[in-house]
Amino acid sequence: MDQGQVFKDTIKQSLAPVLILLDDPTVSEILINGPHDIFVERKGKMEKTTCQFPDEDSLRAAITSIAQSVGRRIHADEPRLDARLPDGSRIAVVIPPCARNGTTVSIRKFTKSKITLAEYIKTGAINEDGARFLDICMFLGKNIIVSGGTGSGKTTLLSLLSSRIPKGQRLIVIEDSSELQVEYEHVVFFETQMANENGKGEVSIRDLVKSSLRLRPDRIIVGEVRSSEALELINAMNTGHKGCLGTVHANSPEDAIVRLEALAQGGDAKISEKALVSQVQSAIDLIVQISRYSDGSRRVAAISEVSGFNEDGSYNVVPIFQLGRLVRKADGSLQGQLEPSGQLPSFMQEIEDNNLPFSRTKFQQVAER
Ligand SMILES: Nc1ncnc2c1ncn2[C@@H]1O[C@H](COP(=O)(O)OP(=O)(O)OP(=O)(O)O)[C@@H](O)[C@H]1O
Ligand SMILES: [Mg+2]
Repeated sequence: MDQGQVFKDTIKQSLAPVLILLDDPTVSEILINGPHDIFVERKGKMEKTTCQFPDEDSLRAAITSIAQSVGRRIHADEPRLDARLPDGSRIAVVIPPCARNGTTVSIRKFTKSKITLAEYIKTGAINEDGARFLDICMFLGKNIIVSGGTGSGKTTLLSLLSSRIPKGQRLIVIEDSSELQVEYEHVVFFETQMANENGKGEVSIRDLVKSSLRLRPDRIIVGEVRSSEALELINAMNTGHKGCLGTVHANSPEDAIVRLEALAQGGDAKISEKALVSQVQSAIDLIVQISRYSDGSRRVAAISEVSGFNEDGSYNVVPIFQLGRLVRKADGSLQGQLEPSGQLPSFMQEIEDNNLPFSRTKFQQVAER
C-alpha cells in the first residue's frame, strides 16, 4: 500500500466520529473543543454539531496517531501541533493542561476547487472594477500585500492574484505549509521544515527567501509574512523583483505596512530605522485589505496605494477603492460595494501608456445614491 493510502486510512480510523464532517463538502473547518463539543464552519458561519468522541482519551489517542502518521509527536513536552494532512488539510492541536476544555483541534479543510476571478466576483468579495484594477496591477508587476485577520480569506485572494500573473515568468512560492493553489507553467514550491528531535534541520521562511533569491525568481510569493523574512522580501522587492506577493496579519492597510516594518526590523539590527522605513515605502506598491463580516462573507475592504510619507513621517497609505456602506438585507446578508475613493493611482500614466483598459473615470467618486 502506498504511503498516502496509509495516511488516509489512519486519518479515517482516528477521526471516525467526525468523518461525516470531513466528507461533507459544505464544511470548511472543524473545531473540536474537547471530546463533546464540536463545531463546524459552513458558508462562513459557525454551527454546533452533534458529533462527539466517546471521551478525552479516545480523542487524544486519535490525535497522537495522526501526529505519528505525519512523523510528529504531541505530548506533555510538546503540547502543540501544527501540521498538514495528506489531503492538504491543515490541523492545529493544543492538548491539556494548556487546553482547558480538553484536547482542542482545528481542521481547516483543503478546498479542492480553485476559485476563478469570475467566481470570486460572484461571491460578492469584490466587484468588477476592483477586480479589473487588481488584474492590471498584477499585469504591471506591482508588489502587493494582502492584509487581513485570521480566516478572512487572505490565502484565497493570494491564490487568485497569482493566477493572474502574465505568462513567461518564473515564480517561487514559499510557505509554512503548502496551501496556495498556483497553477502556472513555471513555478517552484518551497515549504519550511521543522527542527528534528535533536533540534537540528530547521529551515525557516527567511532561509527559503534567501535561497530563492539565488534561484533566479521573477516573482517571489510568500504565503504569510510573519517574521524577519519581511526584510528579505522587502529587499527583493527593491532589487528588481517586480510583482512579489505576500500576506500579512493586520486590521487595516496602515497597520499592515507598520507591521511589515516591525517584522523587518527584527531581521537586521544593523539597519537604521530611517533606511528601513524608506525601503519599506518604496518596496510596497499596494495593500489589499480583506475582512470577514458578520454575515459570514469575506470582502475586499480597501485597495490602497503606498505612496511616500505624510508630514509627520508616517506612511502615506492612500485608498484607491474602499468598501462603501454595508446595509443588512431581510435575509441577514450584507449588501455593499467597493467604491472608488476619487484618488487616481500614482501609476495612472503607466496604465495608459500600456493601453490597459481602465479609464480615469473609473477612479472618480460616484455621487451619493
Ligand atoms: N470570497 C469568499 N467567499 C466565501 N468564502 C471564502 C472567500 N474567501 C475565502 N473563503 C473561505 O474562508 C476560509 C478562510 O480562507 P483563507 O484560508 O483564504 O483565509 P486566511 O485569511 O488565509 O486564513 P488564515 O488566517 O488561517 O491564514 C476558507 O474556508 C475559504 O474557502
Ligand atoms: Mg492563510
